[in-house]
Amino acid sequence: MVFSRFLLISASFAVLAACSRGGETDGETTYIEDDASSSEPGEEAEAVWRAATPEDAADKFTYSNYNDIRVTHVDLDLNIDFDTKVISGSATLDFEREKNDVDTLVLDANDLKIEMVEAHVGGDWITAGYTMGPDDEVMGSRFAITLPDGADQVRVAYETSPDAEGIQWLSPEQTAGKQHPYLFTQFQPLYARTMIPLQDTPAVRITYDAHLTTPPELIAVMSARQDEDGDRDGDYSFRMSQPIPSYLLALAVGDIEFKAINDHMGVYAEDYILDASAAEFEDTPMMEEAIEAFYGPFRWGRYDQIVLPPSFPFGGMENPRLSFMTPTLIAGDKSLTNVVAHELAHSWSGNLVTNSNWRDAWLNEGFTSYVENRTMEALYGEERAVMERSLDKKSLMEDVAGAARPELTALKMPTDLGHPDDAFSDVSYVGGMFFLKFLENRFGRETFDAFLKDYFDHFAFQSITTEDFLTYFEDNLWADHPEAVSQAEINAWVYEPGFPDTIEDPQSDAFDKVTAQMNAWLGAGDVDGFETSAWTTHEWLHFIRSLPDNISVEQLAALDGRFSLSTSQNAEIANVWYQTAIKAGYEPAFEPLDDFLMRVGRGKFIYPLYQTLVDNGRREWAVAVYERARAGYHPIAQRRIDAIFAG
Ligand code: BES
Ligand code: ZN
Repeated sequence: MVFSRFLLISASFAVLAACSRGGETDGETTYIEDDASSSEPGEEAEAVWRAATPEDAADKFTYSNYNDIRVTHVDLDLNIDFDTKVISGSATLDFEREKNDVDTLVLDANDLKIEMVEAHVGGDWITAGYTMGPDDEVMGSRFAITLPDGADQVRVAYETSPDAEGIQWLSPEQTAGKQHPYLFTQFQPLYARTMIPLQDTPAVRITYDAHLTTPPELIAVMSARQDEDGDRDGDYSFRMSQPIPSYLLALAVGDIEFKAINDHMGVYAEDYILDASAAEFEDTPMMEEAIEAFYGPFRWGRYDQIVLPPSFPFGGMENPRLSFMTPTLIAGDKSLTNVVAHELAHSWSGNLVTNSNWRDAWLNEGFTSYVENRTMEALYGEERAVMERSLDKKSLMEDVAGAARPELTALKMPTDLGHPDDAFSDVSYVGGMFFLKFLENRFGRETFDAFLKDYFDHFAFQSITTEDFLTYFEDNLWADHPEAVSQAEINAWVYEPGFPDTIEDPQSDAFDKVTAQMNAWLGAGDVDGFETSAWTTHEWLHFIRSLPDNISVEQLAALDGRFSLSTSQNAEIANVWYQTAIKAGYEPAFEPLDDFLMRVGRGKFIYPLYQTLVDNGRREWAVAVYERARAGYHPIAQRRIDAIFAG
């Protein structure tokens, strides 16, 4: 920590203080009374954010001794065997000692079969000793390699397990083309270790090279620069020369095609959806221009997107140079491309400046959601950006109200986070966005944009904590405008459960008109009275989500009869409609819902749908669907849904 104007309080004290004040809910906003919030802006209060103690900054989701010795480069030489669902070969790791006399390199491994470990000493490779610790369900195993004196590299010969959680293997029947198998990886947050033995923490950045052999009819792509010779020949080489955290390593192999959008952007996809994807994403260059104008140059060379099979469990994943995207974004009208803006924005927030710990996930996701929303505003106007923030805020408030523990509703996650997944709720995404919106509002857009641009530049290719950000903010923005916010306000936003009432209340005229039509209909109107021809996806989402809890099946039938919502081809609209239908017991939606759950593997939709089914007396029906659908879901989704049924 550099100089701070404020006295720092310890983590445990802050938690105790927050608890003793107690939380209150006013039906909409959950908030904590804060004695200190009476301090005037600019006044020197006694406490500020917690000091970043070493324990605070440590990543407890890695076994690796990364503060003693750091892996700097990984060289992969791997063969991909679709018959056995095994990746085998070697990983060669370069490292730098942070401390003298370090004789052990501790790595993360999860379900890897180690064949041989060697160390490079004085020009020769010699066998090195190692131990593999017991398998922890979340963490995998502690893989400790004994370093002979003078060792400057290690080489691990190994193979992956067919059940590796970070790799989904699809049979030809599970692809659209039905001719060839497919595989793709998903390493955030803890799954790189299921494919590669490494220091699997966002605190450590590595460059990488990869040489891969695959069946010759398939194309392999990675989050890296591909060898110029991109021939479909089963032999591929990649180089990522910019240091990235391990969770951004990525690989996909399949019968995919490429279509360019411009000279440094394009789309990979299976043939059936390639043209539609390129059309859906055709505004990506404008998004890049917008973000560059705000926050400085795109630094990764190319930006391609691959539209994966529908079992991809996320909306998008910001693998550098090559974002991985769900096909549920291809709605035909660009209405869901905020996810494109989001993954692209990660090229600044997340990939360039990275949270060093999953407790600081909001630094990745909150900043990215903010940049995403600014990008949507720049391209499509204020109204669309406000609608998106309004929908987001509703989700945030629902999340906060339903949170398992109040500590999970502060931006900075607690030390005893059970699983990194807990850090990726609307709190970090939407809460983080609204925090930055609050700062933008207080400091003025121009000043705040200039600050953020400097921030991305200052911390480029580094991994940092919330406290690093706040310190930089304090020194480079706040110090010049001390009256703009008070220390207590910052504290409330970042460290205290819930969200303060300084949170923006996005006002959308378009949504107000939708609500007025809805109310007229609910007050004994006729469905024919609806004028929806100009409604966008967002207005539909607002409408369906605003329907009252006591909506009757007759009313839903009337809407469905006129608007065919049960068979909507827009996955976001279908999703909220099924939520409403399950809660109201609207039977005609169940067959299309069954079809949806069989077709779509995106966690944002299917986890809550299964949960809502279980919560509304439909467990048996849900189990029956899941029995048919499970094999097609990604291992990450299988684990999450198994947990829903387990209780
Ligand atoms: N990095 C996330 C996806 C992720 C989060 C993977 C946590 C693994 C663990 C990605 O950038 C993301 O946030 N995707 C969102 C889209 C966004 C617009 C909210 C998604 O998948 O829906
Ligand atoms: Zn994200």
